[in-house]
Amino acid sequence: MCGIVGFTGKKPAAPILLEGLARLEYRGYDSAGIAVFKNDKISVKKSCGKLQMLRDLINDGVDFDSTVGIGHTRWATHGKPSDENSHPHRSQSGLFAIVHNGIIENYASLRKTLKKKGYTFLSETDTEVVAHLLEENYTGDFFETVSKTIAMLEGSYALGILCKNNPDEMYAVRKSSPLIVGLSDEGNMVASDIPAILPVTRKICYLNDNEIVHLTADSVEIFDMDKNKIEREVKTVEWDVSAAEKGGYEHFMIKEIMEQPKALRETIAPRIKDGQIHLDGINLTKEQLEKVQRINIIACGSAYHVGVVGKYVIEQMCRIPVFAEIASEFRYADPIIDENSLVIIISQSGETADTLEALRVAKKQGATTLAIVNVVGSSIANEAQHVLYTWAGPEISVATTKAYSTQLALMYLISLDIAQKLGRVDDKYVGKMLSSIEALPEKVEKILKIAPEIEEMAQRYAYLEHAYFLGRNLDYAVALEASLKLKEISYIHSEAYAAGELKHGTISLIETGTFVVGLACTERLVAKTMSNIKEVKARGAEVLLLTCEDYGVHSEEVDHILDIPTTHELLMPSLEVVPLQLLGYYIAKARNCDIDKPRNLAKSVTVE
Ligand code: AGP
Repeated sequence: MCGIVGFTGKKPAAPILLEGLARLEYRGYDSAGIAVFKNDKISVKKSCGKLQMLRDLINDGVDFDSTVGIGHTRWATHGKPSDENSHPHRSQSGLFAIVHNGIIENYASLRKTLKKKGYTFLSETDTEVVAHLLEENYTGDFFETVSKTIAMLEGSYALGILCKNNPDEMYAVRKSSPLIVGLSDEGNMVASDIPAILPVTRKICYLNDNEIVHLTADSVEIFDMDKNKIEREVKTVEWDVSAAEKGGYEHFMIKEIMEQPKALRETIAPRIKDGQIHLDGINLTKEQLEKVQRINIIACGSAYHVGVVGKYVIEQMCRIPVFAEIASEFRYADPIIDENSLVIIISQSGETADTLEALRVAKKQGATTLAIVNVVGSSIANEAQHVLYTWAGPEISVATTKAYSTQLALMYLISLDIAQKLGRVDDKYVGKMLSSIEALPEKVEKILKIAPEIEEMAQRYAYLEHAYFLGRNLDYAVALEASLKLKEISYIHSEAYAAGELKHGTISLIETGTFVVGLACTERLVAKTMSNIKEVKARGAEVLLLTCEDYGVHSEEVDHILDIPTTHELLMPSLEVVPLQLLGYYIAKARNCDIDKPRNLAKSVTVE
């Protein structure tokens, strides 16, 4: 996600802003910029590309003596990576400059109103709307203008704001996007994350949601939305920079596992309004969908596993044949794809070579193509006819978790949208499913609380040589992902198997002490799965069973049992994957593996 830095102090701001942005680079970004005062105006310097491009553009900031400024590294959400879409954004007359992290959900309506009032937009971003809105609302009082403007915003935002008429101060606002204040004798700061503040000070205080902070060189004042002043404890950061970049977690992977509720909320919320589905970026009409005779979901790795879930979900909801395909297989299989095919491409990076080529094959053969991608402006996003973004934010760990989870959420919404448009489900069903989808982040949050229990359990399995994950239907789809998570970061050989298929050969590998994870979260299939679990138990396997509190499995039937909350059967993958991500992580941790950068793997496989 984006990174914000702001400074008001007794020394030049530009070098401090650049150093702060450098400390936020780990978060992933595609452009950077700063705004400082020069000759009584706000000077904005920004460029697409890496931070060094900005440093080169402004000669490392040595030409600016302004002691107040804001800076930004952009992770593109609304609008592709470009100079124009980079932050900071200036208001029409240059009266305000702002940086923003988050998503302004009502930016389209605000943009329309401002355009009618004569404002011209230079970018595609939601952020520029806020800059012009500040100017529109300007009363001569900086604080009053900020307060009035943020009252009109919906969504999530951390803002840093400069006003040309107030060159010795700045305001910052926090709502659902992190913002931290740094305090020192040299000056005061705001930043999205602690690493950006550490070069100046270790004294910090955290802003809470719906708080405004006013900074000058000598003062920091925090207010609530009613402008009541708030006292806030100042803490001292003990972390080193590496720990700070991971938010205090030991690895990016566990940080990203814990970020899943937030990533799910940010991916789901903008797509459900007043009980209706709003899939921005997709405009498949009923007529177009009625021509669809088959759906191919094509991807690699974990993204392919989302496709396997999608197969079951879409076939259940829409009654259209669905084929989940591995991209590297699909592209050379002379596939049966034509204008009656809908091809769904899934990719976190949007750059996976096999997936990109599969997209090109599908387009060439006349298919309608829709991509689910996490990186705005990536090759797959640019080449697909329709694109829906997961708002998971940058995913640093090679092993995907939050991107996988947000891809699942979009898969459910796409399936529901198609089923509704084709009249395969009624409004009551849609309403019920949307409520269940909106409840997923909270249920995931609840499951994450058993992390210590899973960490303790994982110590037992740190010396495994083999592991088997068994499940049926959607449980099998999740078993595929759970198995990959374990093997790719712990280097333990692991297989996922359709539980009913085991007896057709692989059960010969089961012997005393073989570790088996059973997935029994599809209520109507629990009895069938448990009969397969009994088969492996009878051959000496040690079984960890993942099921739901009230599915009636007795703990004496297995060696360990993990109960998770329930939801609609078709949405259970979003819940059952979480403890299995944690299991893989803690087993790898117990084996002292290089969890964020496993051997032989890359975050994005851009070669065949
Ligand atoms: C999953 O943990 C792996 N990192 C890998 O399987 C990944 O899902 C696959 O390479 C696809 O990447 P993409 O989503 O960026 O296309």
